[in-house]
Amino acid sequence: MAEARARSQFPDHLAGELEALGQDLLVGGKAATAMVGACRATWRRASVGRFPFIFAAVLLARRGRAKEASALLEHAAGNTFAGVLRRYLVKTGRLGVPSRRRDSADTLNVWTSTALSEKEMVATVRAFTGLLSGADASPVGSVPAILDIGTGNGILICRFINRLISAYRLKDLHLILLDRSEAMLREALLNCQRLVRLRLRVSTIHCPIESLSERQIVRLGKENLWFATAASCLHHLPRDLKVTTLATVRRLASLVLLEELEGNHDLPDRDSLELVWSVQRFYGALIRSVLRTNVSQAQQEGCIDQFLLAEAMRILTRAKSRRGDHHTSRGEWCSVAREAGFASVEGLATELGSHGPCCLTFRLRAEI
Ligand SMILES: C[S@@+](CC[C@H](N)C(=O)[O-])C[C@H]1O[C@@H](n2cnc3c(N)ncnc32)[C@H](O)[C@@H]1O
Repeated sequence: MAEARARSQFPDHLAGELEALGQDLLVGGKAATAMVGACRATWRRASVGRFPFIFAAVLLARRGRAKEASALLEHAAGNTFAGVLRRYLVKTGRLGVPSRRRDSADTLNVWTSTALSEKEMVATVRAFTGLLSGADASPVGSVPAILDIGTGNGILICRFINRLISAYRLKDLHLILLDRSEAMLREALLNCQRLVRLRLRVSTIHCPIESLSERQIVRLGKENLWFATAASCLHHLPRDLKVTTLATVRRLASLVLLEELEGNHDLPDRDSLELVWSVQRFYGALIRSVLRTNVSQAQQEGCIDQFLLAEAMRILTRAKSRRGDHHTSRGEWCSVAREAGFASVEGLATELGSHGPCCLTFRLRAEI
């Protein structure tokens, strides 16, 4: 785990050199062409690949110098993130968030067809199953309920439920799906009918988890909740909101299973080395996996531009509180959960290949 955390942070010994490179560009007003040699020298001496080009290009493009940025990125051939960023800068002429398309599950469906997403799902289902059995928390009553927060297309929760059927001799289940997207909830309902091998009552709640009304909280409080799950959802919230939202979830479910990919997109400042480093590693790995899927080029580009690159753009260009995606480290998730009032926080980390982000899973218990 220590290694996984280190990988999401920038190697300290290079910080001074690259910060000087950024200063030359922004304060010294050096032309991007003059930076090629400096970027190349740093990458040759250190094991950071083409990162110096990407860092310099992000700083330039953020200041409206997109043409110079894309020229610099030409020198970073072979780096997936650099290639995709360059294509995007040439197409749009700016570093910015693409305009929102209609609410749809299409881009998530492409993502869940990738090998990396499959590894993440397998790791999550396995970890959740182990964490739940270790909690010694059998369902109580004839129809236990599970609350799935940020259900997406529902495939993950369906697979998890199928694992629980024989282990807990389930006969009936009430599944409560919560998502801020109506299109996702529609897709998840179809997948529940298609994939779950159990008599299932399904309800949906269409709202952001952080905006549950007191009435909704009271209604959920009357459910016979066995536990709640939240996979790849709560990273959408900045730190303070993660804490208050998890505190609300704790009032509803004394046992919560949480999953997130590890990143370093919550605490670092905009334009910092740590932020750009983490974004290009994290989204580079996800984008590589999309480029290897067996779907059309238009679908790949739709998933990359509308989903993954859109997230990367929000992180790189917006002020901290408005990033919209705040993946963070294992240590941070533990301290967020403790601040939210969970008495016990147990975690597991699974490597998703040598270049993929680490899959973090946690069992949070309100009482020990
Ligand atoms: C990446 S998908 C994860 C889907 C599924 N849990 C999984 O792991 O495969 C994230 C989902 O969370 C939803 N979401 C994001 N922020 C949310 C929020 N604040 N409240 C509720 N849902 C949210 C999105 O609409 C999306 O469907």
